[in-house]
Amino acid sequence: MPYILTPRAGDIPRINGARVYGQRPGHPFLFLIPATGKEPLTYAAENLPEGLSLDVKTGIISGAVKKAGTYIIHLSVSNEKGKDSRDLKIVIGKDLALTPPLGWNSWNCWGLSVDAEKVKAAADNMLSTGLARHGWSFINIDDGWEAPKRAANGEIVPNEKFPDMNNVTGYVHSKGMKMGIYSSPGPLTCGGYLGTYQHEQQDAKTWAKWGLDYIKYDWCSYSHIAKNNSLEELKKPYIIMHDALSKVDRDIVFSLCQYGMGEVWKWGAEVGGNLWRTTGDITDSWESMSGIGFNQTLNTQFAGPGHWNDPDMLVVGWVGWGPSLHPSRLTASEQYTHISLWALLSAPMLIGCDLTRLDDFTLNLLCNDEVLDIDQDPLGKQAAPVDKTETYQVWKKQMEDGSLAIGLFNTGNTESVVGIDFSKLGISGKHAIRDCWRQKDLGEFENHFEGKVPSHGVLLVRIR
Ligand code: GLA
Repeated sequence: MPYILTPRAGDIPRINGARVYGQRPGHPFLFLIPATGKEPLTYAAENLPEGLSLDVKTGIISGAVKKAGTYIIHLSVSNEKGKDSRDLKIVIGKDLALTPPLGWNSWNCWGLSVDAEKVKAAADNMLSTGLARHGWSFINIDDGWEAPKRAANGEIVPNEKFPDMNNVTGYVHSKGMKMGIYSSPGPLTCGGYLGTYQHEQQDAKTWAKWGLDYIKYDWCSYSHIAKNNSLEELKKPYIIMHDALSKVDRDIVFSLCQYGMGEVWKWGAEVGGNLWRTTGDITDSWESMSGIGFNQTLNTQFAGPGHWNDPDMLVVGWVGWGPSLHPSRLTASEQYTHISLWALLSAPMLIGCDLTRLDDFTLNLLCNDEVLDIDQDPLGKQAAPVDKTETYQVWKKQMEDGSLAIGLFNTGNTESVVGIDFSKLGISGKHAIRDCWRQKDLGEFENHFEGKVPSHGVLLVRIR
């Protein structure tokens, strides 16, 4: 049986999720205040900038803010058991994705068999399972939505599996969540569907018209268009699309997907990317997941608010790349390692499983606010290894409040003790340490910390 580590969220209200959120002036604004606690919850927000309003029953803030600036709003959520309050910093400016995007993507479960009903079901379950209460907010369609031919006027059209795209986005937005889509700068996508080549501005307009908030732009058949592998050719299609996106009247998060070619982390932000895939496709094996996760070391310095390294989507829960699914082949310990490592890396996290089939273990894994806080930390630093052997690795992430998030990973084949000397973390003396998965204070430690870690598992702690 997979072991569950995290206590259930309590009845007393707690506000979760990002502490900073960016949107552009005059563009549609949508933010669901993620909060746990016994229903019904009542939401409040003080100092909302002009143009925004809050639905006090659902916690959805919407509208548009004309004036650029930084607004500190004060959120509170209350119920019969109590109240929680905290600030949210809203930055109306040029940057989006001030924290790594959290959400769902259809690819790792449905592959090319995705359809509108499956996407709506994902949105329903994002709410009904409680995931949205922890900050998960994007519902993204990957490849497989495109019709084989454009309309007579050149407009891209969805295939029969998506009879009305506006209906799907409207549905997702009405629940306070964002909606994403997928295309390729080439004539065809990786799945052989129609791409955007030579229709860049037109497609950006269509996506905006459909109300989309996120585009994953996947290199694929653009390899036949690019003249060579020079940096200039690698950047070109992304510059063109960024330019097209900047001309539409919506904010569309720009996700680059070209598997890391040309060390994309060095120039992804410069071409307007909010995130960029750093690797080939992940699969649900220890070799794949750990091979990707533990190798995110050359790109460390390039992650930050508005621009993130993307080590690919999550492989927990029922996955299978469609249409038939199986439970992730990662062991429970490996799944704790997966989520811990992605959080330490400040990685975008897109859940890749069927949300209608979430078991208690997977849900528990995805709803730990102390772990998600590590990922969503406003400072946006990416963790780096501070100690490493054949059988263990210790990774450190600097947090905004001065604390450290530390992952002690056992990469060996037997349970063992993994430890770290404080000198290797750049600290000295006595420090309070908290176990993030168990949400439990472990006490004060001087100069050294260690703990028992299962094979392929992790001890994820916060040191203050
Ligand atoms: C590529 C990408 C995947 C997925 C598929 C869709 O393989 O890397 O993430 O988007 O294309 O065809």
